[in-house]
Amino acid sequence: MFVTAVDNGPMAESLMESGQVTHKPEDAFTFQPAKNLDWMVCDIVDKPARVTDLMIRWLVNGWCRETVFNLKLPMKQRYTEVRSCLAMIETALEEAGFKYRMAAKHLYHDREEITCHIRIL
Ligand SMILES: C[S@@+](CC[C@H](N)C(=O)[O-])C[C@H]1O[C@@H](n2cnc3c(N)ncnc32)[C@H](O)[C@@H]1O
Repeated sequence: MFVTAVDNGPMAESLMESGQVTHKPEDAFTFQPAKNLDWMVCDIVDKPARVTDLMIRWLVNGWCRETVFNLKLPMKQRYTEVRSCLAMIETALEEAGFKYRMAAKHLYHDREEITCHIRIL
C-alpha cells in the first residue's frame, strides 16, 4: 500500500524509510488531493464538527470512496455532539445523491473518540 500522509508534524524516520509514504507537511483542513483516492483515514485531534466538515468535503467531492476517521469527544454533551455530526454527514450525502454504508463505534481501546467508517456504494 502507498500512502500520502498529510500531517503538519514530522513523520517517524523508520516509516519514511519504507519508501511507501509521501509526506505532505500541510494543513489537512485545506489540503486537496491531486486526484481522487480510494481511502482517506483521519485521526486529527480537533473539534468533531470541524472533522465532520472535512469528511463531508472529501466524500461529497468524490475525493475518496471509503474512509475511517475519529471524532474526538468533547468535554460535554458527548452523545449529542456525535449524533449531530453523524446527522450532518448523512444529510450531506443524501442531498448529494450518494448511497453509502456508515458505522460508528466507541472502541474499547480509546474512550475519548468515536471511530467512524463510511463506504460509498
Ligand atoms: C492523534 S495524532 C495521529 C496519530 C496516528 N494515527 C498514529 O497512529 O501515529 C494526530 C496527528 O495529526 C496531526 N495534525 C493535527 N492537526 C493537523 C492539521 N491541521 N493538519 C495536518 N495534520 C494535523 C498531528 O501532527 C499528529 O501527527
